[in-house]
Amino acid sequence: MADLFNERAQNWDARTMSQQLSAAVGEAIRQYVPLHPQMAVMDFGAGTGLVCTQIAELVKNIAAVDISEAMLEKLRTKPELQGKVACFKQNIMQHPLDQQFDLIISAMAMHHIADTDKLVQCLAAHLKPGAMIALADLDSEDGSFHAPHIKGVYHAGFDRAALTQIFAQHGFKDIDFVTAHRIEKEEKNFPVFLLTATKSA
Ligand SMILES: C[S@@+](CC[C@H](N)C(=O)[O-])C[C@H]1O[C@@H](n2cnc3c(N)ncnc32)[C@H](O)[C@@H]1O
Repeated sequence: MADLFNERAQNWDARTMSQQLSAAVGEAIRQYVPLHPQMAVMDFGAGTGLVCTQIAELVKNIAAVDISEAMLEKLRTKPELQGKVACFKQNIMQHPLDQQFDLIISAMAMHHIADTDKLVQCLAAHLKPGAMIALADLDSEDGSFHAPHIKGVYHAGFDRAALTQIFAQHGFKDIDFVTAHRIEKEEKNFPVFLLTATKSA
């Protein structure tokens, strides 16, 4: 399968948009999730590890899951993540990890997955009972966020009420949203939510 982030990996971290988004999502996670030093965390669609970097020193370890070798290659070079982050280059919807986590975080990866229902089911299966998820992505938009030639984009953002239903159906409770960030792009403003929820015990 082609690595859709092969080219973008090269300057991902240098982009102002990536830096501002990961800083804002990291800040929202730190504000709304009670992080602690015993926590085993998964970052789904971790990419180059920008969001991992935001919380790494506050948790025990992070499993960085991504299907892009090019993005993970950048993550592996970061000294601040050495010994803290383990990379898993695999599609966990087809090949699950044999571990359950205290927390799953994710930023801007969900719109790359066609079947949201199946993704949420998969993420729930990777969480311990009572564990949390904190997932950031675009609110519903008009389809102009991604240029038309960008492949692998399956959703023009997400409707919060529809996502609430999906998460509830898969056993999550305390499903809340905050607006973690607003991306300014070509004179438009794209809100980014952080969904937090707890897997029922
Ligand atoms: C927009 S990037 C965001 C990267 C990072 N979370 C950040 O905020 O900088 C989306 C990431 O999701 C990854 N991705 C796409 N489909 C995936 C899948 N099925 N499983 C895991 N990661 C996936 C891509 O390879 C890419 O690294």
